[in-house]
Amino acid sequence: MKYLSFCFTFAILLFSFHPSSAYSQEKFVQCLYHYPHITNSISSVVYTQTNSSYSSVLDLSIQNPRFLNIPSKPQVIITPLDVSHIQATILCAQCHGLQIRTRSGGHDYEGLSYVAGVPFVILDLINLRRIEVDVENNTAWVEAGATIGELYYRISQKSKTLGFPAGECPLVGVGGHFSGGGYGYMMRKYGLAVDHVIDAKIVDVNGNLLDKETMGEDLFWAIRGGGGASFGVIVAWKIKLVSVPSIVTVFQVARTLEENATEIIHKWQRVASKFNESVTMKITMARVNSSKSENLTVEAKFESLFLGRVDDLIPLMQKSFPELGLVREDCTEMSWIESILYKAGFAGESTDVLLNRTELNGVLLFLKGKSDYVRDPIPDVGLEGLWAFFYEDEAEEAYIQFTPYGGRMDEISESETPYARRSGYLFHIQYRVYWEEKGDAAEERHLKWIRRVYKYMEGYVTKSPRAAYMNYRDLDIGVNNNGYTSFSQASIWGFKYFGNNFMRLARVKTRVDLRNFFRNEQSIPPLISKGDATTPSSVLRMPL
Ligand SMILES: Cc1cc2nc3c(=O)[nH]c(=O)nc-3n(C[C@H](O)[C@H](O)[C@H](O)COP(=O)(O)OP(=O)(O)OC[C@H]3O[C@@H](n4cnc5c(N)ncnc54)[C@H](O)[C@@H]3O)c2cc1C
Ligand SMILES: *[C@@H]1O[C@H](CO)[C@@H](O)[C@H](O)[C@H]1NC(C)=O
Ligand SMILES: *[C@@H]1O[C@H](CO)[C@@H](O)[C@H](O)[C@H]1NC(C)=O
Ligand SMILES: *[C@@H]1O[C@H](CO)[C@@H](O)[C@H](O)[C@H]1NC(C)=O
Ligand SMILES: *[C@@H]1O[C@H](CO)[C@@H](O)[C@H](O)[C@H]1NC(C)=O
Ligand SMILES: *[C@@H]1O[C@H](CO)[C@@H](O)[C@H](O)[C@H]1NC(C)=O
Ligand SMILES: *[C@@H]1O[C@H](CO)[C@@H](O)[C@H](O)[C@H]1NC(C)=O
Ligand SMILES: *[C@@H]1O[C@H](CO)[C@@H](O)[C@H](O)[C@H]1NC(C)=O
Repeated sequence: MKYLSFCFTFAILLFSFHPSSAYSQEKFVQCLYHYPHITNSISSVVYTQTNSSYSSVLDLSIQNPRFLNIPSKPQVIITPLDVSHIQATILCAQCHGLQIRTRSGGHDYEGLSYVAGVPFVILDLINLRRIEVDVENNTAWVEAGATIGELYYRISQKSKTLGFPAGECPLVGVGGHFSGGGYGYMMRKYGLAVDHVIDAKIVDVNGNLLDKETMGEDLFWAIRGGGGASFGVIVAWKIKLVSVPSIVTVFQVARTLEENATEIIHKWQRVASKFNESVTMKITMARVNSSKSENLTVEAKFESLFLGRVDDLIPLMQKSFPELGLVREDCTEMSWIESILYKAGFAGESTDVLLNRTELNGVLLFLKGKSDYVRDPIPDVGLEGLWAFFYEDEAEEAYIQFTPYGGRMDEISESETPYARRSGYLFHIQYRVYWEEKGDAAEERHLKWIRRVYKYMEGYVTKSPRAAYMNYRDLDIGVNNNGYTSFSQASIWGFKYFGNNFMRLARVKTRVDLRNFFRNEQSIPPLISKGDATTPSSVLRMPL
């Protein structure tokens, strides 16, 4: 065990499970300062709680204000400049009984990249955001702390006909996003972000820097959809870029219930996953004031990216989806990078905005999200029951989004990556409720609302298990025991996120982090956990 010899070498306390906070923090920092293989000085990137910049560094990447100003704060934040700082943090945290939360963009819905119920430190990758685009080979190396907006920007600086099939919100970090799947408007044409990851660098529990060759096929498989946080600290990804036409077409068409939204969605459910794969048309549903009466109504926004020209799109829509009534005037032609700005709400602005954290952050509201997958159309009566929830007070800033499947997703097998929801689905659902009012009472009301919606939808979505998307983290679907991770308890949420891939993830975990150092409320458990008598023996006998 390399960490043990490391701890001994520096004659610093052997790790203890319940250290006093101040003591372990001090010892931990000393350990960092004495780590022998540091390349750049580490003292300039270590923020203890007494440091005047501690709060601003901590808060900068908190994307859900529910987890601002909560009592559980990291003992130390390290913002590594290079791999040696990551290695030092991993080894010293083990010596001194501290856990690690790795943060890239900080978008985790439940704040798992910066909140923990145990003494912990944050490895914040904000300084590791270099991006090297190689247009000769259509590849790029992207450091894990970069945002997808920065990636899109760097690609667009080198080429007008290359892009990458990842998410919409430019501030999302590639560290979390790619390791959990990552989808956006090109999913039907190109699949997920992880389908285009061709190499990666990760630091493991022993402080070794590994790449695709040295980490082994199983670990390289696991981090492409199984989450990075269970396996180590991902330093960088190598990705294959995809081609995009020099001109694409976008549109956004809204229809309220008074404008037959239910009937249009009825048809959408039957055609959207079968459109030409160059078209992705999502629906975002939210409540609005009716323009026809004093009443509230539900509006469905049909939002689309077409990887082609408007002249080809209109006939396609007239043929397969005339109910929408799409006309040329609804559509705008632009470059792919302009479509990224358009989808992010910055239509017509300079692409430089993709680099501006302050501007992109906007106003942050409290957030809770959930997800589902749908195989059979939801009947109209099901939709109508859903609309009723939108008229409740808590739904003022809520929305529900349907994202169509089909195309490339149908061609990739369930076990290709840990992301199991591939063929046979019509669409994916995301539920989000936002609120502004501070305090536990307001939080409780909004959580209750979204949980009721989720309960209501049970009959219309996948069952046994009810599938969920790991990147839309939801601790309601199950959590690990605090302190140690029981395989049987983890199975409750594990099969929901990963289907049958959960077993293989647990086998990889067993090989690379048997002692379960890298753990959190929803980390993959090793198969032999201390005190866990429930691991099925059939699983233990499977080869790694
Ligand atoms: C506003 C918003 C928009 C979104 N849009 C989309 C979308 O269009 N498509 C989509 O698929 N998803 C979307 N998501 C979900 C998003 O993909 C996930 O929240 C993702 O995990 C965010 O990654 P991050 O690096 O920003 O988050 P973080 O909170 O930093 O990390 C998330 C998880 O990954 C771990 N992690 C982060 N970096 C590393 C690393 N380098 N090594 C190991 N583990 C690491 C963290 O510890 C944590 O467990 C969105 C989320 C939000 C809040
Ligand atoms: C806070 O920490 C940073 C990073 O280590 C360091 O550069 C700075 O001098 C510290 N400030 C104070 C007031 O201790
Ligand atoms: C493209 O890849 C080849 C083979 O790996 C490599 O030799 C070459 O340097 C790469 N091109 C660039 C511009 O890096
Ligand atoms: C809604 O559908 C009805 C019946 O099919 C039709 O008469 C009406 O014109 C439609 N309304 C709109 C706004 O399209
Ligand atoms: C889909 O549309 C694109 C762009 O118009 C076109 O090139 C392609 O041939 C179409 N694919 C199919 C299967 O029709
Ligand atoms: C909708 O109506 C309510 C009450 O009349 C009003 O307070 C609110 O601002 C309106 N919302 C929008 C988006 O116009
Ligand atoms: C407004 O809502 C009320 C109560 O639900 C309903 O009775 C009425 O018909 C609605 N008015 C219009 C114009 O839709
Ligand atoms: C980033 O955006 C903010 C808010 O709009 C603005 O004040 C600032 O000047 C921008 N910074 C850069 C470098 O453009």
